[in-house]
Amino acid sequence: YEWTTEQRYASYSTYSKEYLADLRKKQANSRWHLGYHIQPLSGLMNDPNGFSYFNNEWQLFYQNFPYGPVHGVKSWRHIASPDLLHWEDRGEGLMPHEPYTTQGVYSGSAISVGDRLFIMYTGNVRTEDGGRISTQLGAWMDKDGNIEEIPEPLIAHQPDWYTGHFRDPQIIHQNGQYYAILGAQQESRTGRILIYHAPKPEGPWTLQGPLDFGYDNLGCYMVECPNLAFVDGKVALLFCPQGMDHNVFDYENIYPNVYLIADGIDWANGRLINPGPLHNVDEGFDGYATQVVNGPHDETYSVTWLGESEVKDVSDTEGWHGCYSLVRKLSVAGDRLVQTPVISGAEGDAFSPVRAKLGLQECIRFNLTNASHFVATVGDGQESLQLTVKDGYATIDRSGVPSTEPEIYGSTRRMKLDDDAHELALYLDRSCFELYADGGLSVLSGRYFPTNPDDWQLTIEDAKDVQVSGVHLRTIY
Ligand code: FRU
Repeated sequence: YEWTTEQRYASYSTYSKEYLADLRKKQANSRWHLGYHIQPLSGLMNDPNGFSYFNNEWQLFYQNFPYGPVHGVKSWRHIASPDLLHWEDRGEGLMPHEPYTTQGVYSGSAISVGDRLFIMYTGNVRTEDGGRISTQLGAWMDKDGNIEEIPEPLIAHQPDWYTGHFRDPQIIHQNGQYYAILGAQQESRTGRILIYHAPKPEGPWTLQGPLDFGYDNLGCYMVECPNLAFVDGKVALLFCPQGMDHNVFDYENIYPNVYLIADGIDWANGRLINPGPLHNVDEGFDGYATQVVNGPHDETYSVTWLGESEVKDVSDTEGWHGCYSLVRKLSVAGDRLVQTPVISGAEGDAFSPVRAKLGLQECIRFNLTNASHFVATVGDGQESLQLTVKDGYATIDRSGVPSTEPEIYGSTRRMKLDDDAHELALYLDRSCFELYADGGLSVLSGRYFPTNPDDWQLTIEDAKDVQVSGVHLRTIY
């Protein structure tokens, strides 16, 4: 079933309460309903937005088209958490309306300022002739969660020589100044990250220019969702350079989600200091639009959308699409990020996973100390997901189970293991998996949609020296 543009852009008021209630029921009762991952109440979930710490809680908004599994008119749905694992729904965040968000509230960020949260985000308007008007907007949220939008744009239009692809501001407070970095496209169809600065969050915002992050030309036509993470005295730049040249950096997903580590940022000259090489944020199938939060005590976390634009997913048949990775605590090792999943509080009983029945809500740990080669299969005899460790790589093959458009996406992804790698942790959650090497030095995650998630078990071949242990994970959602 294809949605026409007209249907996707129809206003929320055209849908009945019963229709929405029915969609929510389908999601809640889905066999793929996740036990401990963030998922939409209904419809499409895409980018994580406004990830912040405010009022002694973690705040997060998920971008959402509540009425179907397609990229319709987007809004922000608000959730909050005491511990980055248990999230509570807080209702509507930012809703689309005329004149600046008529065709969607697009991505943005949030930062605590005094006793309020400041939200900076993009408004999307499509014109009759197919044009695109992007404005950068602001809103304040108080401690009761009431949001008041600032009526006029903070940044009314893109700079000269740039197109309407101009969005996803990350607001940062440093040295008594506010900075925003945005994804943008030059008229020459080159992707750029732009820096603005302002004395106060409400502005006035002044263009500084493009951020120099060490690559003159990635061959990309647009950068989406740029984020700076301040980690262990270093600066990580995470971004999505759409269309990036495979000769510059090889990647298998349709749209890449990459990062690099630099020694610092020189705001005055708009450049990263000693930027390192590019890496995938996630070596898996579906990670995109990672957003970071620079927390109140110098700690930094990220969350990643497990979904990619413009692809169909198996759960679309039930009217919903997309989920988030576990929140990951970031640290730096050399020129790489270590992404440690935040999971404490969900771990239940230990069990011996080999030949035990899996409820598909577990973590299976493989101790690799003496093992350089093994194949682990989780499945029910009909369908399966396979992990192979061989020649210094861990490979996941999801061709044996329904998944996201394998014909355009491929069915395997692999990550390189360090020579002294000693542990792999495979998290399973009914329709999503995350594989971490050595606590997060490499990560490989994705969706999969088993027909009978309750009947799966683990078998291991070729592995006399691998030690396997398991722990059940509690249902949180
Ligand atoms: C990334 C993205 C952002 C944009 C949003 C719109 O997935 O395309 O650039 O703000 O999604 O939904």
